[in-house]
Formats: sequence, C-alpha cells, structure tokens
Amino acid sequence: MRNSMQSGVDILSRQLNSPLEKIQDSLLEEKEIELYIKRDDMIHPEISGNKWRKMKYNVIEARQSGFDKILTFGGAYSNHIYAAAASGKAFGLQTIGVIRGEETLPLNPTLNFAKSAGMELKHVSRSEYRNKHTDEFVSKLREEFGDFYLVPEGGSNAFALPGVKELVDEIDVDFDIICAACGTGGTVAGICAGLKTGQKAWGFPALKGGSFIYNEVDRLLKEAKLPSSGNLELFTEFHFGGYAKYKVELIEFINAFKVKHGIPLDPVYTGKMMFGLYENIKKDMLPKGSVVVAVHTGGLQGIDGFNERYGALIE
Ligand SMILES: Cc1ncc(COP(=O)(O)O)c(C=O)c1O
Repeated sequence: MRNSMQSGVDILSRQLNSPLEKIQDSLLEEKEIELYIKRDDMIHPEISGNKWRKMKYNVIEARQSGFDKILTFGGAYSNHIYAAAASGKAFGLQTIGVIRGEETLPLNPTLNFAKSAGMELKHVSRSEYRNKHTDEFVSKLREEFGDFYLVPEGGSNAFALPGVKELVDEIDVDFDIICAACGTGGTVAGICAGLKTGQKAWGFPALKGGSFIYNEVDRLLKEAKLPSSGNLELFTEFHFGGYAKYKVELIEFINAFKVKHGIPLDPVYTGKMMFGLYENIKKDMLPKGSVVVAVHTGGLQGIDGFNERYGALIE
C-alpha cells in the first residue's frame, strides 16, 4: 500500500490524527463549498481507513477477553479480510478468514496477502456463506478451529463504532456535512455517533438497494448503546450497477481526481462516494458556504485485484 503514517502496537493506544487535506477545485470555488478529505487511508500501510478504526476496539476486546485467535468473514477481494490478516500479524493474534466462494488458484492479490500475513483461509460455498452468522455454522467453526473471537463481515459490530467515532473527534474544522462510502453501515454509524448538533452525515452505498443501511445504522447504534441519530442521509443512486461494478465515467473520475489532487481513490467505495458528492455539489444540494469533510476510508489494496479482473483501468 502507498502511504504509512504509523505502524506497530503503539497505535492501539494513541489518537491517530490522520491528515485533513483541503481540496482546491474550480467547481468548489464556483459553488463556494469548502471540501476537506480526512486521509484515513494514511493511517497504516496495511490496516488502512475504516478498517483500522473498526478493528481497534475489537482487537483490544479480543485481547482483554483472553483470545489469541480472531475469525472473520469476507469476499475474495475484501478490504476487511486484508486488514484483519494484517491486524493479526501486527498485534500477535492468529487469524482465520472464512471466504465466500470456492478457492481459485492462483490466489488473487488480496487473499495472497492475507495468507502471507499468516491468515488461515477457509473457503465455503456461497450458499453456506449465507448462514455464516447462525449458531450452527459458528459452532461447526469452533469445532474445527477451537475457540476464537468472532468479528462479523466488514468488521461492523458494537465495538467498531467507538473506533470510527474517534475519526470525527479528530476533525478540527467546523464542518456541516461529513461523507462516507457505505457497505455494511458500520462506518457511517460510528460517524453518526460523533456528530454535533447541526452536523449531518451523508452516506453513499457502494451496493444496490443501499437503503437497508438506515436500519443497520439504528441497530448498530442501539447495540453500541449510543444515541441514535436522525442526521443521516443516504444517496443510493451511486452504486454504478452494484458492488464492485463500474462504469467508464467512474473510472475517468477516479483517474482524473488522482492527476488533479494527487489522491488515489478506490473503485469499489471511495471513488463512488467522491463521484456522488461531486454530483450533489453540481446539483446545488449544498448551500453556498458549506464546509464538507469526505472520509477517505482506504480500500486502495483492492485496486490491484480490480485491475487484474477488469484490465488496467485504474492508473
Ligand atoms: C474502503 C472502504 N470504504 C467504505 C466501506 C464501507 O464500510 P461499512 O461496511 O462500515 O459501511 C468499506 C467496507 O466495508 C471499505 O472497505
């Protein structure tokens, strides 16, 4: 991965303070919008973005409860699987990744990394994977692997939210809107937990039919015993055909954004969020003078796998 701010165990106890970069752009000038990017992609070379934020209190909880093993779930290109494997390596925990779909060899760049970081990979069929959180399935996994600390798919559980909230607390500009890409909803739920009066969260689901995230956010906030937030708005039209699907205009946007601002975006999450935010700005959905923060939730490891599947689209 591209950038590294800190590494090692010390980041478990420290505030990360990822950089906040101001974006200069003629559209933003014309619309009188101040836009900042919270560069969580720079947190750690391998445990980047929302993944580190969501893993932090899970790792602490696993250790405090005496576990030496984490088991989690994900697709074959999952940013979460990549980060969970790296967390295990960095913090001395064994990791097991239950992967959706049969194994294909050679392993793609994500799984290859996970394996080299020491993660044990267990491939299950797509139909088995659907039962991943049932007691029966988890008991079978315990029979096979012994006791483990379970982290759900995407790392989204009650322990994920306080870690994500910390990123909002780090922001030292008085913003009106904070934006994030959504998959399972854990990240935007943690962001909602950090909002002050008058501030809003905008979520951009990366998959089709993303309005289920409203319920997920409520459920996660309740589970984490955090006050529910009515300040979330989801923009569900920027999925580009679905999870890990793309259209040429998205690829052009991502490549142009990197050339113009020197900031890489991934095609599965952050590219879609930034594209959607720019569309909303073009449509005058924000009053002049608004201050906006877009969270760069990482995901850059996925570019290699994406380019391998679709041709070298992302520069
Ligand atoms: C890079 C990136 N951004 C955003 C998200 C969305 O996070 P969440 O699943 O918490 O909604 C994910 C993954 O899930 C991700 O990998």
